[in-house]
Amino acid sequence: GSESAGTYGDSDFVVVANRLPVDRDASDPDQEWRTSPGGLVTAVAPVMKAQEGAWIGWTGVADVDFEPFTIDGMHLIPVTLTNEDVLRYYEGFSNATLWPLYHDVIAPPEYHRTWWEAYVRVNERFAAKVAEVAAESATVWVHDYQLQLVPQLLRRMRPDLRIGFFNHIPFPPFELFAQLPWRDEILRGLLGADLIGFQRPADAANFRRAVRGRLGYQTKGSTVTVPDSGDLPGHSVRAEAFPISIDTPYLEELAADPAIIERAAQIREEVGNPKVIMLGVDRMDYTKGIRHRLKAFGELLAEGRLNVEDIVLIQIATPSRERLEQYKIIRHDVELAVGRINGEQADIGSIAVHYLHHSYPRDEMTAFFIAADVMLVTALRDGMNLVAKEYVACRLHDDGALVLSEFAGAAEQLAGAVLVNPHDIGNLKAGILEAVQMDPKTRARRMRQMRKKVRTDTVSAWSKRFLSELDAIRDSPEAIVPE
Ligand code: ADP
Ligand code: F6P
Repeated sequence: GSESAGTYGDSDFVVVANRLPVDRDASDPDQEWRTSPGGLVTAVAPVMKAQEGAWIGWTGVADVDFEPFTIDGMHLIPVTLTNEDVLRYYEGFSNATLWPLYHDVIAPPEYHRTWWEAYVRVNERFAAKVAEVAAESATVWVHDYQLQLVPQLLRRMRPDLRIGFFNHIPFPPFELFAQLPWRDEILRGLLGADLIGFQRPADAANFRRAVRGRLGYQTKGSTVTVPDSGDLPGHSVRAEAFPISIDTPYLEELAADPAIIERAAQIREEVGNPKVIMLGVDRMDYTKGIRHRLKAFGELLAEGRLNVEDIVLIQIATPSRERLEQYKIIRHDVELAVGRINGEQADIGSIAVHYLHHSYPRDEMTAFFIAADVMLVTALRDGMNLVAKEYVACRLHDDGALVLSEFAGAAEQLAGAVLVNPHDIGNLKAGILEAVQMDPKTRARRMRQMRKKVRTDTVSAWSKRFLSELDAIRDSPEAIVPE
């Protein structure tokens, strides 16, 4: 609380993200809350459960006002989006402009002024909500590409706050970022923070280069010096890498649960007890390289280098952003490829690809990870990719092999994986074969090394490091805290 009632809120720690950790089916707002999709929620929810604070975000339902509520020990404060906001800010600017631009323009980004106006308006709404609930000198942690203007908006309204920002997705090379008609506004928006975290050092370097190139500000190491502007005093900002991770102890506990182990054995039986189960787990997104993976697998079967009686691929793809054209296209392409492979390669009793377009509870996901001998993560570009780390955490016996794209942030941490370039189908096929044929001793050595990494670099260590650096910056003498 604070002395000056009415000016400050009660929360000393505020997380703000486009989504709350739970959402509702937009077609059925009377239904139960369920876990929201995506890596951000997987990573940040355990941090929030372990800590007092408020989480500000959207419920996934348009045009409905929800009161604040508490779930699993997390205090949630909904922000309302209208139907038009969902179309222009969420589906438009966030997911048809920024998402493809920040993922190497795998799909062409669209630039529309009406979408930008909605992005500004919704960022202002989120910032105003934070300003209302944050206590004096509170710590505010803003997440991801949907809210890049919030740091500067907040600094203007509430210079007392400590503001951190974490970008869960890549930050693009300057040559691509420079396409964005509102590139300078986005850079200034982010620079309102005291600390900006990225997944990889290369993302942080891309950002600092854009700041130098567009705004002409000086950078030294990871520190950017923001000069005085008309209405804001100058300050310094740190921009550096904080690779995100998973709740490893929790996953290890699930992976040791006899009921879940039993379920994994049952899955193996149900897919015909093959010699090898391969698994893919992704949101249905064109960045994930699902088409490339299926092409490689289909060719290996057609060439007789893999045999449909020995091997199955289970491809789980959570529905995502389904009204967007590019997402309709990827779903169509994936379903066509699955149909083709099964039509040409499968037989009664031996299906080649089990394709599941659903979301599953964590227990069931863990059973899939235990059942899989080979995990395929073949993203064309991915900020981190938590699925790769989750698979490793669940391999309690140091068995199993991971095929991992060079273009996922996780590749910098999981050196024991079979690294592949998914654009190179020949290389992808060779990587899959290498993983399938790898001898148990090599598998054990490589998995042990990767498990060690995910046991040390947990999501709790990640949030502690980010928040303690944020504390230290504001407490340091060179940080200018205006009166
Ligand atoms: P992204 O954030 O782009 O979706 P990540 O791999 O970083 O990618 O995170 C995805 C998260 O969603 C992981 O925690 C993963 O286990 C979870 N997930 C993916 N697909 C499903 C599914 N079908 N059912 C349940 N959880 C899923
Ligand atoms: O970084 C992961 C992420 O992109 C989040 O920002 C996003 O909330 C999530 O994946 C899932 O996407 P959406 O919220 O659009 O369903």
